[in-house]
Amino acid sequence: MAFSVMVLRGVMPRLGMPARKELMQRMVPAMARYLPTMAILTIVFGFILYLYLGSFDPALLWGILWGQLLLVALALALIASVIGLGIGLRSANLLLVHFEEEEEAHPQEVGILQKRFGMAQIVVFLLGLVIIALMVYATAA
Ligand code: HEM
Repeated sequence: MAFSVMVLRGVMPRLGMPARKELMQRMVPAMARYLPTMAILTIVFGFILYLYLGSFDPALLWGILWGQLLLVALALALIASVIGLGIGLRSANLLLVHFEEEEEAHPQEVGILQKRFGMAQIVVFLLGLVIIALMVYATAA
């Protein structure tokens, strides 16, 4: 996420339309292939680690600050996945469909989708920073 927010967002506006299209046409299928699996595995393995370190004991899992911080992080990770995959990746896939059309066929829709793709990246990036802060705080708690 840091790469797409800090590097790609800086480079994209400086590219001409053909280069921008080609970059998206090569990048989005790769994102679609790996991102859902990575998001699911991060959440599943994080949750298993949480249950294991919490000894499957409700008193530890939600009775103390450690468990509560990790539960908040879990909720944020689920929200980030829904925004990233449901809004970000979906907008990127729809953009690819528009890129196949005639030049400037639906400029308004393309503008809205580009904005949504960009916003989703920023929101997921910021949620990721909060999640890491919660993880570090929980580990120290
Ligand atoms: C964006 C997703 C995530 C990132 C980037 C992330 C990152 C991290 C990092 C960096 C640590 C080590 C913290 C330290 O040693 O100071 C950690 C620990 C941990 N994470 Fe995550 N994590 C994510 C999602 C999750 C989720 C969804 C869960 C499920 C509840 C989870 C559960 C845990 C647990 C149980 C630990 C160990 C805490 C301890 O040692 O007491 N993580 N995570």
